[in-house]
Amino acid sequence: MADRPTNDPPVPDAPRDLSRRRFLGRAAVGAGACVGAGLLAAPTAMVLTPLVSDGPGAAGERWFRVGPLSAFPVGGPPTRIVLRADQHDAWMTVKNAPVGSVFVQRTGETELAVLSGVCPHLGCAIGYRADGDRFQCPCHGAAFARDGSLAADAGASPNPAPRPMDALSWRVRGDAVEVRWVRYRPGTAAQEEIA
Ligand code: FES
Repeated sequence: MADRPTNDPPVPDAPRDLSRRRFLGRAAVGAGACVGAGLLAAPTAMVLTPLVSDGPGAAGERWFRVGPLSAFPVGGPPTRIVLRADQHDAWMTVKNAPVGSVFVQRTGETELAVLSGVCPHLGCAIGYRADGDRFQCPCHGAAFARDGSLAADAGASPNPAPRPMDALSWRVRGDAVEVRWVRYRPGTAAQEEIA
């Protein structure tokens, strides 16, 4: 399942490959963060984000189903969706663990814009502020316009983010919106996929 708070907690999204000790710790942090976010923001909806496929392409490529197209009104605000999947290591499996988050916006009848919720500065979870109609990172003040571009008037000056928010691929199959989840390396001006 996935929760859809409007503001993110100031913690990094869960990484994908973990040692057992780190895995358990991060899983606990992720679960706590989700619970906290749920307390901060009244839930507007609950959606399933099933892992559709582990792709054969780039390392870590995964497609997630994030909901029906009708769940995203044209011109509506960005919808944050936490992606969840089973996490495995050599010792155990954690079911339905958060692996990342995305913001989905429907920009036209058949057009979407999907942005990674991972801050390109150091990897904290970005939140969307409806009052300012922009994205903001709670960790060091990076700010982004609604299209993900760097905001000129960041809370911190200069804007610490080295690049805009990372755009992700999407597709519609039937009425289902699917998102290709990719984690990019933080702290670099250029996009570089990491596993
Ligand atoms: S991690 Fe987002 S501003 Fe530093």
